Amino acid sequence: MKVLGIESSCDETGLAVYDAQRGLLAHVLHSQVDLHALYGGVVPELASRDHIQRLIPLTEAVLEKSGISMGEIDAVAYTAGPGLAGALMAGSVMARSLAWSLGIKALGVHHMEGHLLAPMLEDEVPPFPFVCLLVSGGHTLLVRVDAVGQYRVLGESIDDAAGEAFDKTAKMLGLPYPGGPHLAKLALEGDAYAVDLPRPMLNRPGLDFSFSGLKTAAITQFRSSHSPKLADLAASFERAVVETLLAKSERALKQENLNTLVISGGVSANTRLRDGADELCQKRAGKAYYPRLEFCTDNGAMIALAGAKRLAAGETTGLELSIRPRWSLEQLPVI
Ligand code: KG4
Ligand code: ZN
Repeated sequence: MKVLGIESSCDETGLAVYDAQRGLLAHVLHSQVDLHALYGGVVPELASRDHIQRLIPLTEAVLEKSGISMGEIDAVAYTAGPGLAGALMAGSVMARSLAWSLGIKALGVHHMEGHLLAPMLEDEVPPFPFVCLLVSGGHTLLVRVDAVGQYRVLGESIDDAAGEAFDKTAKMLGLPYPGGPHLAKLALEGDAYAVDLPRPMLNRPGLDFSFSGLKTAAITQFRSSHSPKLADLAASFERAVVETLLAKSERALKQENLNTLVISGGVSANTRLRDGADELCQKRAGKAYYPRLEFCTDNGAMIALAGAKRLAAGETTGLELSIRPRWSLEQLPVI
């Protein structure tokens, strides 16, 4: 079964073809970074308009790259939520129209399930059960995963998501959009032990996160009369976020008595986080898994893969369902 995957939940248009037998055949991506950079953040209306313009040429491009024709696609999987309503609508209308005209199935995929399953695009896939730290621009979740669709949320952020904290802090430090990768790059030149910042909620039991206080602490340091070097502040901030994420991940592994940790979502591209996850799992005689860099942030491949798994189990979405901008992972059916 060959599945065309369409991702359009935020500021990236991603298309991919995943073959249930042969794996990923091809993927293409258009990032809207340049479009939104001028405004310092994503402008939803501009995002939707750009998706509409990119979807058809990118569909043609991914088919050509895959070496297959339109008629060989067996199903279309698209991101149905969570995300920006207009952006989701663009991808879902494209997917549904294509499926209807080709007489094939369509399936609305949960964006965070796409991220969660993205490490399965690699040769060595994580074995169930595992703990997944899902860290993106919109979500920070610790999830126990027993099978595809069998998800128990163990903890989540009560305010900013980890990526959002990176982005907002970077913006206030005067770094360009998107802040996360820029802050991480600057951090490479700094001393991560130079500035003392809090580790939010580590002294409390439980697996929830909070990042808004850390963001404020970093800004307060920045604005103080003896303001630290920017690179030192970036490195110290990055270290505080990563140590907090990993401390809670370790707590989740201990609680669930597991040794496999999966990290995915945009922030899993962060080198300090990836190295820290490796170290943590080695200490516990386990293993950390994460996607290759290009599949940490939004992409069509993870949607095609998640769609292929659910379509193979017989799931489809009727023409009546369009999008779900708000959607909990725990509402998904087990397959
Ligand atoms: O998963 P994603 O592409 O989109 C959402 O679903 O939100 O994640 C984007 C987030 C942004 O907040 C971005 O700043 C962050 O991931 N990010 C990073 C890095 N690369 C991307 N944060 C820290 N370090 C990075 N290297
Ligand atoms: Zn995402």
